[in-house]
Amino acid sequence: MSTITTERLYLSNFKESDAADFYEYAKNPNVGPIAGWAPHKSVEDTQEIMKAWFMHENAWTIRLQGEEKMIGVIALEHDKYRPDAKSKEIGYSLSEDYWGRGIMTEACKAVMKYGFEELDLEIIGICTGEVNKRSQRVIEKCGFQFEGKIRKTYEVYDGTLRDSLVFSILREEYDALEK
Ligand SMILES: CC(C)(COP(=O)(O)OP(=O)(O)OC[C@H]1O[C@@H](n2cnc3c(N)ncnc32)[C@H](O)[C@@H]1OP(=O)(O)O)[C@@H](O)C(=O)NCCC(=O)NCCS
Repeated sequence: MSTITTERLYLSNFKESDAADFYEYAKNPNVGPIAGWAPHKSVEDTQEIMKAWFMHENAWTIRLQGEEKMIGVIALEHDKYRPDAKSKEIGYSLSEDYWGRGIMTEACKAVMKYGFEELDLEIIGICTGEVNKRSQRVIEKCGFQFEGKIRKTYEVYDGTLRDSLVFSILREEYDALEK
């Protein structure tokens, strides 16, 4: 079990009981589709998604410190673009009620620190879509470097192919960031 504490946040691995809060924000059509996934259809749907993607050591629920409610998700996932490197790709989502307060930037910086310092990664990747300006800003604030755009690289929830803006940060670039 790994937990991460930041100034305002508490990150902890998933428990089955997190499904209700996760469903509550993931059913919102403003959250999933911009990231490429369909709004969750039911708590059962959320439970299946949790089992398939998030019940592991390197996926965390996000809570404001001292509060029960789970408000977001962040994970270090398989890096599909760098299979031979000691690398992970960050993925995240946050309840719309909490957007614009710097929460994901704070969570992402903490997970980058965990990835480099605890998992000894040499590089961390992150990708987003062209339309996702909020995520691009989080990525920029966290110090990632833009690598390029891969056209029509992934199929999203509605069956269309989307371009991906690909970013990464090397361990030495991370070490050189002002923290
Ligand atoms: C992307 C997401 C995680 C951002 O979380 P957040 O906690 O709101 O992010 P932060 O508050 O740390 O930063 C958001 C930044 O985007 C900026 N922003 C908001 N709307 C914007 C817009 N339309 N255009 C450009 N920037 C915008 C904010 O001003 C802020 O930057 P600032 O600190 O310089 O003011 C959240 O919006 C989300 O969950 N979106 C849906 C799921 C998703 O897109 N996941 C990522 C897939 S790659």
